[in-house]
Amino acid sequence: MKEQLLKLQDEALATIATAPDVATVQEMRVRYLGKKSDLSIVLGGLGKLPTIDERKAMGALGNEIKTAISTALDAREAELGKAELTARLNSESIDVTLPGTPRERGHLHLMRQVQTRLEEIFIGMGYEVAESREVETDWYNFEALNLPKGHPARDAQDSFYLSEDTLLRTHTSNTQIRYMLEVAKGRTPVKIVCPGRVFRRDVEDATHGMMFHQIEGLVVDKGINLAHLKGAMQEMMRGLFGPNAKVRLRPSYFPFTEPSAETDVSCPFCNGTGCRICKQSGWVELGGSGVVHPNVLRAAGYDPEKVSGWAFGYGVERIAMFAYQIEDLRHFISGDMRFTRQF
Ligand code: DAH
Repeated sequence: MKEQLLKLQDEALATIATAPDVATVQEMRVRYLGKKSDLSIVLGGLGKLPTIDERKAMGALGNEIKTAISTALDAREAELGKAELTARLNSESIDVTLPGTPRERGHLHLMRQVQTRLEEIFIGMGYEVAESREVETDWYNFEALNLPKGHPARDAQDSFYLSEDTLLRTHTSNTQIRYMLEVAKGRTPVKIVCPGRVFRRDVEDATHGMMFHQIEGLVVDKGINLAHLKGAMQEMMRGLFGPNAKVRLRPSYFPFTEPSAETDVSCPFCNGTGCRICKQSGWVELGGSGVVHPNVLRAAGYDPEKVSGWAFGYGVERIAMFAYQIEDLRHFISGDMRFTRQF
């Protein structure tokens, strides 16, 4: 038995010394020390030895051999493990001095930034932001706004009709009606701003597009008048262009307001002293506004004998053009990154 044991030990130690990698060493641990190993099988015959002394001696030898093999396995595994780790570290090492792949950071489009700023100004005054449909019926886009069929002002807003009765909305004023009828349902006060896209069959040039953005404002309550409109416009313009911005209302005409006014703001470029942008007048025009026409209130379920309101509708591109000195409206949708990146 002793010879057998020593032979197994020699074999095992020799093979372990040449094991090529850690995985093989781990297999060898099972092969040489496991329950089904030759060593275990030979030692399993201990009980058959004739004398107790022989059993003791062989048992002790068996344990020594196990320890020797185990030590050899540990040593080989440690040795190979270290080599493998070194190889891996070498092959996977990162040269932190190499230039990286730059990733550009995106940001909100200028239109969205300006729209958000406008919303914030009004939210700060207790308004709600309301949105509605881009595909609209003739009634919400025109009729309810005191623009019956055949009304000459319909020509001024050449429309994209989708069918006899549906069109792409020509202004955000449809949201006034939708909000009053579907959300407010007769309650006061109504205080909303309505941003959104609008569509017109315009010939595109530096100041006209077939798609652009508007922001509509509407307040309805008891005793609302033009002075309230002017006050809100003043706040809006100060929020946009700074504390020195002034507002001026000029008589105008819109079917949905009476009286109607064009809103001008003191030229943000020259602070009202006169320059090329404002054509030396000191003022630039923002858009339409006025006191809500009784017919509009009636169509939206309000009694014009009891409540009144003001409204405005401005082009957001136009505001952005003044705020950022942009000379051509077409830049906004060109997708040209040289433009977009600047803001
Ligand atoms: N809807 C008008 C347009 O697109 C702008 C406008 C004028 C809106 C006066 C209003 C308003 O709410 O009171 O040209």
